[in-house]
Amino acid sequence: MEYRTGNFNKDMDKLAKEFNSSLSVDKRLFREDIDASIAHAKMLQKCRIIASGDADAIIAGLTGIKADIESGALKVKNAEDIHMFVESELTKKIGDAGKALHTARSRNDQVATDFKLYVRKSCDITAELLSNLIFKLTELAEKNTDAVMPGFTHLQKAQPVTAAHHLMAYAEMFFRDLTRFKDCRKRLNSLPLGSRALAGTPYPIDRDYVKELLQFDSISNNSIDGVADRDFVTEYLYCAANTMTHLSRFAEEIIIFSSSDYGYITVDEAYSTGSSVMPQKRNPDIAELIRGKTGRVFGALTAMLTTMKALPLAYNKDMQEDKEIFFDADDTLSSCLNVFTGMVTTLKYNKETMFYACAFGYINATDAADYLVTLRGIPFRTAYGIISALVGYAVSKNNTPLDVLTLEEFNTCHINGDKKDLIKEFNRLNKEKPLFAADIYQKINIQNILDTLTSDGGPAEEAVKKSILNLRKRLEAL
Ligand code: ARG
Repeated sequence: MEYRTGNFNKDMDKLAKEFNSSLSVDKRLFREDIDASIAHAKMLQKCRIIASGDADAIIAGLTGIKADIESGALKVKNAEDIHMFVESELTKKIGDAGKALHTARSRNDQVATDFKLYVRKSCDITAELLSNLIFKLTELAEKNTDAVMPGFTHLQKAQPVTAAHHLMAYAEMFFRDLTRFKDCRKRLNSLPLGSRALAGTPYPIDRDYVKELLQFDSISNNSIDGVADRDFVTEYLYCAANTMTHLSRFAEEIIIFSSSDYGYITVDEAYSTGSSVMPQKRNPDIAELIRGKTGRVFGALTAMLTTMKALPLAYNKDMQEDKEIFFDADDTLSSCLNVFTGMVTTLKYNKETMFYACAFGYINATDAADYLVTLRGIPFRTAYGIISALVGYAVSKNNTPLDVLTLEEFNTCHINGDKKDLIKEFNRLNKEKPLFAADIYQKINIQNILDTLTSDGGPAEEAVKKSILNLRKRLEAL
């Protein structure tokens, strides 16, 4: 059946027609299309642009179509896009009155409006998913404020932190994501309808009334921009890509920390898979898939930016690509957030393994240097040189941990012969009074170190508890 509108002497080529159609993708907009059409019809009625009886019939007809699509009684097919489908079904249903619906609008402002309504809802749904994830992370953190683990830089053990502190780092990242989606919603919430094809309309329409009905905050200020703008799609996709980046970093750490060489965490069996060959295997497929799907969402952002790049104003058919790109990325994001939240809430931290891991890798070396600064008044750079030589010595002794060295070894100069000044300084200081006394062992004890890292935002138990409460407050205030 030919569904093309316009004045043509022959049918469209079959492939070209299929190629041009967006129905298989944009049928997902049927609710938004119908809601926006109902608002438009109410406005046309109020402004006496169409007969009041026709408007009543249109509104009743559209309401019925929505229910029929929802129940499956009406199949969405045989139209170029969802807008043409709804309009033609309406006319089939209510007759000539249906033909009045498209007065004072165009598919250009219609699709921009429908899509904004959809993306707005996605902002709300994603914000809710993020909020849930953040809250769950604070709960898991609360259970692990005493779970000491090595913190890393360059994936090398650096300084002691706790699992709670590490989890809260992600909670903060997701909180920023959440605020980004909220911002995106605010910025997109202006109504394009009334821009018509690009040049507005001579009909005495009331855009503010439609704005109120559809709960937009404002109306678009320029009719060309109203139909040409897809910033709300690129912005959402940026927010999504950024969230996926955060998920991928977390997923990567779950993969690393659950590997047998680390064993810091155990991924619950409900989120683990086996190997078809190796009986011993437990694979973190879910985390890997989330890491993998990140590329797909980045692809969507790049695709959308590239689709819009250098497009002349106003509407161009290129823009029809926006929905397929968006839906795929949005579906990916929400499934990742859902499954990730489940996986993360069932993670088990192996506290003993993590604590044991802190004994190796010299994560107390900074504190040994701080000891010389605080207790011996030595400038930090000098203290750093002394401890780095001490660590070099300990490494050469089969990676002996610092707290296993004897006091005599501490007080022996291990500085490389090239560094004459530093050797001199070491000897001078050590002669006055041995550089290290027995209290060095308390100073470099891992638990003691953590207990002193009390600065705001730091890993000490009390500091992390404060951070948890602080984030929950900010979450509630949103
Ligand atoms: N299916 C089109 C889209 O998604 C709707 C707008 C069509 N407008 C037009 N002038 N052809 O972009």
